[in-house]
Amino acid sequence: MNIILLGPPGAGKGTQALRLVEAHGMRQLSTGDMLRAAVKAGTPVGLQAKAVMAAGELVSDAIVSALIGEELDAMAQDCGAIFDGYPRTAAQTESLDGILAARGRSLDHVIELAVDEDALVERITGRYTCAECGKGYHDHFEQPKVAGVCDKCGSTQFKRRPDDNEATVRTRMAEYRAKTAPILPIYDARGIVARVDGMAPMDAVTAAITAVLVQ
Ligand code: AP5
Repeated sequence: MNIILLGPPGAGKGTQALRLVEAHGMRQLSTGDMLRAAVKAGTPVGLQAKAVMAAGELVSDAIVSALIGEELDAMAQDCGAIFDGYPRTAAQTESLDGILAARGRSLDHVIELAVDEDALVERITGRYTCAECGKGYHDHFEQPKVAGVCDKCGSTQFKRRPDDNEATVRTRMAEYRAKTAPILPIYDARGIVARVDGMAPMDAVTAAITAVLVQ
């Protein structure tokens, strides 16, 4: 099964993708994570992407589609893919169709996480991750059981994303409205969009997505 998780910054795409990976053995393909890894490694792609991401704008379609193709090529054919943060433009939607067809795959579901944008700024500016294992936390919604210690690996080092400040978040949301929301009708016309309430508690969102997948 191949699915897209679609929603604005902070909608919960990454949170839900990780849960689906754990529950169903699928693979999360997050272009944001791939680009951050490229920036950290200082690759040519990372050097191009760094300033664009810091400004909250979109990296070029060609770069992200190439990354997705490479990741799919490295996956077992029978492993399902969760596209997290891709596609984000009409051009990427078209590219994904070609990328999947060339690999004998097709899209099963597009899950739209419907959210209230005003609440997302708090979600994003409050989030942080373990610097060692990457487990996600939030200042208000998901704190470590022991303050300052990662539940998963015991590390005491945490980090925040440089683009998780309010000004950049507002730009990322504007990019979503202008370039990503318009791809929904493309998938709607194919009858594969399911809308899930992304403002519900995390477990309820997971249950709603799971209900779509087992239909
Ligand atoms: P990317 O990394 O994809 O960021 P994003 O889309 O802005 O999404 P986020 O990771 O911010 O949010 P999320 O929906 O995953 O929310 P999360 O689960 O963390 O992209 C970053 C940048 O890379 C882009 O700006 C662009 O420059 C570039 N880029 C990436 N892909 C690209 C592409 N395809 N084309 C061009 N450029 C691209 O949740 C957020 C917080 O809320 C967490 O703390 C979580 O604990 C909490 N939370 C989640 N769900 C709930 C809930 N139900 N209730 C309460 N709290 C919740």
